[in-house]
Amino acid sequence: MSDRTSIVVVANRLPVDREVRADGSVHWRPSPGGLVTALEPVMRKRQGVWVGWSGDAGDAPEPFEADGIQIHPVPLSHREVDSYYEGFSNATLWPLYHDVIAEPEYHRSWWDDYVTVNRRFADAAAEAAPDNAVVWVQDYQLQLVPQMLRERRPDLRIGFFLHIPFPPQELFMQLPWRTQVIRGLLGADLIGFQLPGGAANFLRLARRLIDLKPRGSEVDFEGRTVRARSFPISIDFASIDAIAREERIAKRSAEIRDELGHPKTILLGVDRLDYTKGIAIRLKTFSELLQDGSVSVPDVALIQIATPSRERVEHYKVLRDEIELQVGRINGDYGNVGAPAVHYLHQSFSREELTAFYRAADVMLVTPLRDGMNLVAKEYVASRVDHGGTLILSEFTGAAAELKQAYLVNPHDIDGVKERVLQAINADPADARRRMRRMRRQVAEHDVSRWAADFLQAMGIEA
Ligand code: ADP
Ligand code: G6P
Repeated sequence: MSDRTSIVVVANRLPVDREVRADGSVHWRPSPGGLVTALEPVMRKRQGVWVGWSGDAGDAPEPFEADGIQIHPVPLSHREVDSYYEGFSNATLWPLYHDVIAEPEYHRSWWDDYVTVNRRFADAAAEAAPDNAVVWVQDYQLQLVPQMLRERRPDLRIGFFLHIPFPPQELFMQLPWRTQVIRGLLGADLIGFQLPGGAANFLRLARRLIDLKPRGSEVDFEGRTVRARSFPISIDFASIDAIAREERIAKRSAEIRDELGHPKTILLGVDRLDYTKGIAIRLKTFSELLQDGSVSVPDVALIQIATPSRERVEHYKVLRDEIELQVGRINGDYGNVGAPAVHYLHQSFSREELTAFYRAADVMLVTPLRDGMNLVAKEYVASRVDHGGTLILSEFTGAAAELKQAYLVNPHDIDGVKERVLQAINADPADARRRMRRMRRQVAEHDVSRWAADFLQAMGIEA
């Protein structure tokens, strides 16, 4: 196949955020988030088209170009932000696909708007896509797009990638619109999941709900063959490695330790403020270690960076209150004047600042109850150009399948997590370095360009 084939990415979010400066001028700057971090380098290389929502309700701006990517904004009304984005995507699908950690809500009006908005994205992609293009649809917000797009544009090759876990049938069967979602996905030629288990769950559901007969990773549907396979996503290792090697980052990282009053051990958590991330478990572990006297302030400091996320969704409001209460209690019980036990930052940071935090952290705490991949774990590894630091990693992340030298934990087992944290704090430096070296090799060899190349190659084009 020609490597000039156009690529159209269709994702809920655009890879840029709108910024209005003091003088009233409008600018678009790169936006943070796992999906964007993952796809941007690939898109820039291929001068692709990106169809997505700007993040604001109301009219969408005209298409424009940013960093070599053609941007095609899709509008969402205020009501659709409530029903399609905050509602069906983030209060129905997100909790359902993450092991119902929070209870999913099922509302017919949310579903109706999910269908309407998916159709709008499919129409926008149908208009933006050159003949015979490859269209790559992303994530749980847009599961109906493959089928809708195929109806309008049978010439296209359509891929779909799910960034979050795909649940087992015992959970998925709760969804009142379960058959429609499976049919929506089957509009793709290739459906990618983070782990083989997600692909297996999907194929089992195709058998159960539509009576299809999968053969290995393939299934025939309406005269086509659809493949369902795993493609574990990754990070741009080289760019994080390069940032971490900069002198000013090493300086900033030393400064962070200084600002904390030179603790012996810095523990770090970096997450979107989301109930899947196990932030409460991490705080409980820390507070019990303080209570037991296994660790003490100011020898040990915990920095918890919690990026604001989905702040109008009820479960997220409740979570924020719970986490902030917990932080306040720990600091009240164990902090000193000028030396809190937990340094809690409800803020976004630049890539450089985050990398300095990673470099400063002796123990990185990644404890989700469920996570499709968890890029933070891989970013930490990529930042440790000094081969220092230890990674505590939940078994319930996609990353655990690759980062086998991490200190793996079951986040439901608080005693187990406490034990692992103490082991990590007291790790033999030579053993820790060995583990870090092997994890770095794994991430370096399986970076995001390889992920994209593998997926696109399976779609029949070279990345
Ligand atoms: P999720 O996709 O669920 O948010 P991941 O760990 O896979 O979780 O990806 C999170 C991404 O967001 C990472 O690239 C991480 O660097 C970035 N990120 C997390 N917290 C912040 C923050 N406070 N400021 C800027 N970027 C952040
Ligand atoms: C996860 C999802 C992405 C989503 C991101 C940020 O990584 O898989 O699809 O874009 O979280 O969430 P938000 O709701 O702010 O887009």
